[in-house]
Amino acid sequence: MLSKRVLNLKESGTLKAMIKAKELQAKGIKVIQLDVGEPDFPTPINIIKAAEKAMEEGFTHYTPSLGIPELREAIANKLREENKIDVSKDNIIITPGSKQAIFYAVMALIDEGDEVIIPTPAWSSYMEIVTLAGGKVREVPENNDFSLNIEKIKEVITERTKLIIINSPNNPTGHVMDIKEIRELCELVLDSNLFVLSDEIYEKLIYEGQHVSIASLPNMEERTITINGFSKTYAMTGWRLGYVVAPKNLISAMNKIQQHTATCATSFAQIAAIEALKPHTPIMPMIEEFKRRRDYICKALEKLSFKFVKPKGAFYVFPEIPIDNMNSNEFCDLLLEKYGVSVTPGTAFGNYNKHIRISYANSMENIEEAMKRIEMFINEIR
Ligand SMILES: Cc1ncc(COP(=O)(O)O)c(C=O)c1O
Repeated sequence: MLSKRVLNLKESGTLKAMIKAKELQAKGIKVIQLDVGEPDFPTPINIIKAAEKAMEEGFTHYTPSLGIPELREAIANKLREENKIDVSKDNIIITPGSKQAIFYAVMALIDEGDEVIIPTPAWSSYMEIVTLAGGKVREVPENNDFSLNIEKIKEVITERTKLIIINSPNNPTGHVMDIKEIRELCELVLDSNLFVLSDEIYEKLIYEGQHVSIASLPNMEERTITINGFSKTYAMTGWRLGYVVAPKNLISAMNKIQQHTATCATSFAQIAAIEALKPHTPIMPMIEEFKRRRDYICKALEKLSFKFVKPKGAFYVFPEIPIDNMNSNEFCDLLLEKYGVSVTPGTAFGNYNKHIRISYANSMENIEEAMKRIEMFINEIR
């Protein structure tokens, strides 16, 4: 009865972990969730006020499907100034969330049987969106430090390869690509005539290193689809607001898909996003707090002999579990059942059955308590 398309889809591994945790909470068990990928901070008040004002002034109807020109203009200014991408508002479409933006981009570019390279570990929605579009996923494991393995990527390129998806700062590893890594990728992309989908949603959440947008490198603008959104930087996950930056023909194609599906992004959320982009929006305290939590978690993991690469950005760490005869699914299930701590198994991000993803988008108090419980759990099973 169901379409083959949907039968091929897997459930979201990250959401699955979250649902299990919520079920236990519903039974009255206190679970500390280090599974979720959303900031625990409230949306800054200036953004909320801007949305309230927009609603009061009657800005509650459809907008142009590309998004309101003022927001597209504000994003183009930001991209020119901060990301050094030379674009105008005609290169931008506003979408209900960046996940939807990725869906449009893949639908606009990928035909049945086209191949898409996804370096892993990776956020599983990339794989599922490519599958939904009829494309073939080619997972390529990253180096041990979670940088791209360019040689391995070269090996899987065929005449059907059309796209490579990158994500820096990265979910789940926290890896931030440096300029050398990006240059190597550009060379490969230009030589092999590929497109890059660059998911930059965590661009502001960087604690060491610097964000470089691949579209800012020579000749890359025509080859790059940059994805970004308001969920993570501005704690606006529920507002559902993202955007795509791409060559105009791709934006027109995505606009057609948006016209026949979502119509447009929420009107008053778009007005609020113009406010969010202003320099007085207080995002620095959130970034500093994430850094403090990262440092705490890394110290605690070291003490427990977890092997991990210190994340430079986003709000995740992706350690290997320090127990020989246990895989990540068993580890996560037992940790949740016995100690009420929910983390996501590495298998949600590719073939990583010894890793777990810990999100530090939770209060310091909860993180401290969770790390104590993880310590007790490790001591019990070691
Ligand atoms: C790498 C990455 N891209 C995109 C998204 C989706 O963000 P949005 O809320 O804008 O759809 C997430 C959310 O977890 C993410 O981790």
